[in-house]
Amino acid sequence: MSMTREEILEWLTCADATPLFGRAREVRVRTKGNAVFLRGLIELSSICDRDCLYCGLRRSNAHAHRYAMADDAILACAAMARDLAFGTVVLQAGECARLWTRDRVAELVRRIKGETGQRVTLSLGERSEADTAAWRAAGADRYLLRFETSDRNLFAHIHPGAGLSGPHPRVDQLRRMRAQGYEIGSGIMLGLPGQTLSSVADDLLLFAALRLDMVGLGPYLAHPETPLAREATPSEVPVSAEFTCRCYALTRLLLPEANIPSTTALSTLDPERGRERGLVSGANVFMPNLTPKAVREGYQIYPDKICVVAPEADSLEALHATFTKLGLRPVSA
Ligand code: 5AD
Repeated sequence: MSMTREEILEWLTCADATPLFGRAREVRVRTKGNAVFLRGLIELSSICDRDCLYCGLRRSNAHAHRYAMADDAILACAAMARDLAFGTVVLQAGECARLWTRDRVAELVRRIKGETGQRVTLSLGERSEADTAAWRAAGADRYLLRFETSDRNLFAHIHPGAGLSGPHPRVDQLRRMRAQGYEIGSGIMLGLPGQTLSSVADDLLLFAALRLDMVGLGPYLAHPETPLAREATPSEVPVSAEFTCRCYALTRLLLPEANIPSTTALSTLDPERGRERGLVSGANVFMPNLTPKAVREGYQIYPDKICVVAPEADSLEALHATFTKLGLRPVSA
């Protein structure tokens, strides 16, 4: 469905968005029925070459705990996803081409697909066309790369080295990967210092223009060991579960078929009800964390990151209780 910038801004700012949530739920039911897709998230490593102003894993954060998983440990996590009938694993890591070389990732993808039959989504940051081509040839199905904001000045400010000339580097990579045959996912953070409401409307319109297959978005949660946490610039965009859910609903209307996760950041902001609120506002995906306990704490993109952890039984039981309450049925995909 197409929407104008003005209509989007109206929904982002109106007093009561109840009709928006109702419409998003209708579209969700029409396109996805009562299915909810589970994706097993594996956080391969917290080592990062980049210095993004918002992220706890940034290179300059000397307090961050750094780890990197070995290939066999990653395979064991993927086997867990298979045993839990998730259907897909998401391999995510701090950006580090030295650690996650073209050949190593290609081999990992081949082994995961061959040994566990899981689909593979990669989320390894900004990488060359040759790298993503090799991973696609090895069998990678999808790639997640949030463009974070379509506001070029803000993007350049929070991503040292990004520059202002030429195309948005991440949007450019998304287009290249689409041409390589990936399903592509992107997304944004909400409530960044200096972020405007009209830029968020543009972000949502860009999701539609890119015809994204997956859209992940969540509130920006300040990490005390990062420069952005010390920045006094206000944001026009609220850091709230309500606002996040309005964006899920608008994304659902703009892209009826998209896979939209109820994100960890939303659950961190509203631990009691976040995941449920996401799933009734248009989201249809949930990503339990499969990262081994021993290293999980090290992946602190933002503080107090809550995680619904698999395969811990109590965590999964609570998750399934939420699905049952909402009339949703987990499906492998
Ligand atoms: N708060 C919320 N989300 C964050 N991310 C990174 N740092 C933060 C933060 N402080 C998100 C970014 C990134 C994804 C992996 O995590 O959108 O793309």
